[in-house]
Amino acid sequence: MRLRQRKDLLGLRDMKKEEIEQIIDAAAPMKDIILRDIKKVPALRGKALITVFYENSTRTRTSFEIAGKYLSMDTVNLTVASSSVQKGESIKDTVKTIEMMGFDVMVMRHNMSGVARYIANHTDMRVINAGDGQNEHPTQALLDLFSIKEKKGRLEDLKVVLVGDILHSRVARSNIYALLKFGCEVRVVGPSTLIPPDIEQLGVKIFYSLEKAAAGADVINVLRIQRERQENGLFPSLDEYSDLFLVNRERIKKAKDDVLILHPGPMNRGVEINGELADGISSAVNEQVTNGVAVRMAVLYLMVGGVNSEVFD
Ligand code: CP
Repeated sequence: MRLRQRKDLLGLRDMKKEEIEQIIDAAAPMKDIILRDIKKVPALRGKALITVFYENSTRTRTSFEIAGKYLSMDTVNLTVASSSVQKGESIKDTVKTIEMMGFDVMVMRHNMSGVARYIANHTDMRVINAGDGQNEHPTQALLDLFSIKEKKGRLEDLKVVLVGDILHSRVARSNIYALLKFGCEVRVVGPSTLIPPDIEQLGVKIFYSLEKAAAGADVINVLRIQRERQENGLFPSLDEYSDLFLVNRERIKKAKDDVLILHPGPMNRGVEINGELADGISSAVNEQVTNGVAVRMAVLYLMVGGVNSEVFD
């Protein structure tokens, strides 16, 4: 299946390896556009995009908006906090209202798992999941894979460590689904309370020691500690977490010499990653942001546009 044939992009669990490759391949020329002096191309002129975020975001919402603009889409952000959602309008009615304005694509983030699929089943607009609860964050994982391929030259057969709050992380789930399709060895590591035991059934290896998980690793993807979920008592304190799982040079000394450090952002410096590593030469954290725009341009282009446009000339 080519991405164009999909109405929606809801997650990577059900996406074929070939579709992921198609997006990653298309993201490279999109990145060239971003790095030009004049960034706009007419590929999606006349198409309209709306972002509807029920949770906070800096990177995902803004990068979808600028990705649409670089492709000449008309873009609108619905600010949920000041919308009629606050007057009690249901999500279904909100989406129908947006649909009737003629939007082609809706990018949605919501704190409940499964909302993106529910909405996709109730609208003719294309729906792109920008993160739903603890379920999936597909475009984050796609940009992570694009960043890995850019640095490592391949995706196949790498040892990739995901460290931190695996339990609550939609980024971890989407990464796991995608990386396993490329034959990667995926290692998850964190406190036992933040690792769901059934995650092993997906085909990942579980570790409780960062030093052991890092041995021989090609990539270490550091997940954000979700402070907003701390009150559920799953980890005692940030200090105790960082005493064992703060990613620093010493703890990952057994990783490969050219280990790549990723972080989806926003970072809690000194809690899950130390500043020297986040800003060091092994880190692609800043490039991930640019790659996020490129990957989202590729997704929009492939879903909404075509495959034979001047952007690939
Ligand atoms: N990585 C990520 O989803 O960041 P935002 O919450 O800022 O969008």
